Amino acid sequence: MNNSPASSSLMSPATLLQAKRTLRTWMNRRPEDSMPPFLSGGLPMLGHTKNFGQDPVGLLQRGWDEHGEVFTFNLMGTPAVAMIGPEANEAFFRAPDEVLSPKEAYRLMTPVFGKGIAYDAEPEIMDQQLAFLYPALKKSSLERYAAHMAAEADAYFDRWGNEGEFDVNDFGNELTMYASTRSLLGAEFRSKLDTHFAELYHHLDASLTPLAYFFPYAPIPRFIRRDRARKQLVKLFEDIVESRRKSGGEDDLLQALIDARYKDGRALTLDEITGLIITIVFAGHHTSGALSAWTVVEMLRHKDHLQPLREEMLRLHGARGTQTFKSLDSAERLEHFIMETERLHPPIIVMMRKAIEEFSYRHFRIPAGTMMVTTPSVSHVLPHVFKNPLAFDPSRFAEPRAEHKTHPYNMISFGGGKHRCIGLHFAYLQMKAIMSVLLRRFDLQLATEPGSYEPNYDFLLVGPKKPARVRYRRIAD
Ligand code: HEM
Repeated sequence: MNNSPASSSLMSPATLLQAKRTLRTWMNRRPEDSMPPFLSGGLPMLGHTKNFGQDPVGLLQRGWDEHGEVFTFNLMGTPAVAMIGPEANEAFFRAPDEVLSPKEAYRLMTPVFGKGIAYDAEPEIMDQQLAFLYPALKKSSLERYAAHMAAEADAYFDRWGNEGEFDVNDFGNELTMYASTRSLLGAEFRSKLDTHFAELYHHLDASLTPLAYFFPYAPIPRFIRRDRARKQLVKLFEDIVESRRKSGGEDDLLQALIDARYKDGRALTLDEITGLIITIVFAGHHTSGALSAWTVVEMLRHKDHLQPLREEMLRLHGARGTQTFKSLDSAERLEHFIMETERLHPPIIVMMRKAIEEFSYRHFRIPAGTMMVTTPSVSHVLPHVFKNPLAFDPSRFAEPRAEHKTHPYNMISFGGGKHRCIGLHFAYLQMKAIMSVLLRRFDLQLATEPGSYEPNYDFLLVGPKKPARVRYRRIAD
């Protein structure tokens, strides 16, 4: 944790010392220590950092092509190990936190979520904090949210004209923010999603740059704005929480956090409530936004799927009928379509851990201090796992093919093991709710060349590069 005075400088002495130790351990290793092979190329000092920043998926794919499931590359002068493919993914995700630590790897999130929140908390406290969130994401809660999600989608599309254009990123991010905050945080918070909140949220968002992975407390304007914005968000929540404490409110996540108690009987502080709300909004927002954006792009790139998808939605809901958890849950064609989009466009392209103890995989021994990464973007296109992996083919998920089931770690867009995403079912419900309304009310076409919707690696959560525009024409009010 970074509450020493050194934490506000570029790199703390402790971090520097650790980096030097890791480097020395690696340099002193003997061949019989059998470390993962080194990826070719890379610049002196910087190693593969520049390539990783510009095209992380390309770099990791090259690593797989060169060495297979485990290899070493050089990030900022320090060795990092990539693990790819079902067996390596399983070893990565099933390693205990005391061996491969997410806390150490996700330090960039601490200034956003807050000190002592989620990954920054001690593991047993983080477990309790996540347990406060589970009830809001279980099936009986999702059953209530389906109506809010449909209402938000309808209200959003009511504001569109009879024809026009939209950017899939804006559409995905805006609508998932409205639908998820209405569902999880109640009508009062949703009504406060005005420009002030949007601006504060934007400052948190804009701080998640590759620099933040390495120097989360660098005294740069972007990080200063982030810290100010977080303080103002606590203030904003103070009023809402106060009014809830006085007069109660909906049976939602906000109320659950207000009522929650740690095992020792302590209630959450305002800073902790704010931090956990930021955590859940962050975890679910751009991830669902990016996947929604890609889903629209893929529907329009593969137009032979569009009419069958629309027919499934019309059969389940009619032109303007009611959407429920049950009806959306049964929408198998749409589910397989989103899964195929998720396979080829995972919003989180890299997951990280730091080895706290020596980590062994097959005959490799990876020393403590090493940064470890895994990537769905390469794991999901391995030809021995998915047949004809670059082809867009949702039917690969239908029985009896069910290619995702041959190994539990074939698909890892939602992570795996202890830290597997707790919002998966929420995310799928929300995306299906939005797509159902969109498909039933609009005819859609790509407004630029199909090939121009490229992944945007400037952000940690990867949607299509802007402009990614779509033309719409209203077919039902
Ligand atoms: C398409 C949407 C989503 C994707 C692709 C996604 C992906 C992921 C991934 C990959 C992880 C694991 C990270 C790691 O192991 O390093 C994760 C964890 C998490 N996700 Fe999601 N997520 C999505 C939506 C959501 C939603 C909607 C919520 C909540 C409403 C949510 C809440 C969380 C939380 C709290 C964790 C931390 C779990 C832990 O560390 O134990 N996610 N997510």
